[in-house]
Amino acid sequence: MQGLPTIILVGPMGAGKSTIGRLLAAELKREFFDSDHEIEARCGANIAWIFDVEGERGFRDRETLMLRELAGREAIVLATGGGAVMREDNRQALRERGTVVYLATSVEQQIRRTARDRNRPLLRQGNPEQVLRDLFAKRDPLYRATADLTVRTDRRGPKAVVNEIIRRTKR
Ligand code: S3P
Repeated sequence: MQGLPTIILVGPMGAGKSTIGRLLAAELKREFFDSDHEIEARCGANIAWIFDVEGERGFRDRETLMLRELAGREAIVLATGGGAVMREDNRQALRERGTVVYLATSVEQQIRRTARDRNRPLLRQGNPEQVLRDLFAKRDPLYRATADLTVRTDRRGPKAVVNEIIRRTKR
């Protein structure tokens, strides 16, 4: 399975970026990194704490640095946070450094997948469904503009999604 570039997964909360990223990396025998997880490890605190103490701006600054660092590694699979595409320079950095795959899903699926999560501070800023709908309206065009390809994750299981990504990113 040689010859594939670094694969960068973008998409909203609950699209399955971590699950699919881990499976995809295992299938391709590559290292998997999750930018939120790396930020937490480096900071020694979880995302909710970082938002509380440093605000969203502080989190985004950490995220920007982490994305640059991780996206620069060769031949990995990288799952990004849902807001990774909010900054223009992040979008450019991701596009330059790998094949960007947009994992698209429905808001209904996002609600189901994030319902019990306590570590996604944006979902506590209002009614979660409305928050997700507003974020979708703002970010869907940005995911599409950043991605080389879009794969839906709400219509079949993770294994089928992984197979589609491999098929469509093969050179
Ligand atoms: C965020 C998504 C989260 C995390 C943070 C902000 C967002 O990542 O980075 O809570 O802005 O959509 P996931 O997409 O992995 O949940």
